[in-house]
Amino acid sequence: MKRVLLIRGSAREGSYTNAIADRALAAQEGIEVTAFSPYEAVFAPCDGCNFCETAGRCRHDDLTDLAREFETCDVVLIASPVYNGGFPAPVKALLDRLQVYYTGFYANGKRPLIAKHRRVVLLAAAGRDGNRALRVMADQLRDACSVTNAEPVGAALCPQTDGVPAPETTCETLCELLKRSLTDEEANR
Ligand SMILES: Cc1cc2nc3c(=O)[nH]c(=O)nc-3n(C[C@H](O)[C@H](O)[C@H](O)COP(=O)(O)O)c2cc1C
Repeated sequence: MKRVLLIRGSAREGSYTNAIADRALAAQEGIEVTAFSPYEAVFAPCDGCNFCETAGRCRHDDLTDLAREFETCDVVLIASPVYNGGFPAPVKALLDRLQVYYTGFYANGKRPLIAKHRRVVLLAAAGRDGNRALRVMADQLRDACSVTNAEPVGAALCPQTDGVPAPETTCETLCELLKRSLTDEEANR
């Protein structure tokens, strides 16, 4: 059984990202999904205190279960709206908390920090065309995951949700990305 960690970046009723993510995940065989909503969880944003640089861990223990899931799952799916050209603040706050791995890698010399190679898939929805935002989000994701042994492998975009979106097409793209991430042997190296 492969394990998927789903980060729900929208708390909106009728959310496209939630609907597309749920449909694409339901189409995958033999997976177990753990969902995490940064809107429901209470966690501190990283404030750059550098405690982790000397202690080797975050001074907050509010994301312990999520960290375990992140480190041991097979695929991370981040389903996120575009807000003002990038990730909504709660999702970005979550990405910033990956800083503990960065300092672990560079300041504490714990290399490699996470033994298991995982894949990261991004799903985004945008009111307008969303292409510039998707590039920003993909870059931020790559930076945040840089030393976590979690490899961003691709993104599916549902544009024009303010107008006439085509969520079915996005769902097909996402299904393909998930299928490849879950079955490709390279994902388990
Ligand atoms: C605070 C806020 C900021 C937004 N900023 C943008 C934006 O910069 N570009 C864009 O194309 N759409 C923007 N949108 C529209 C959302 O991306 C769009 O409604 C999307 O479908 C939301 O995702 P969801 O359907 O999963 O909730 C914004 C919406 C909100 C609420």
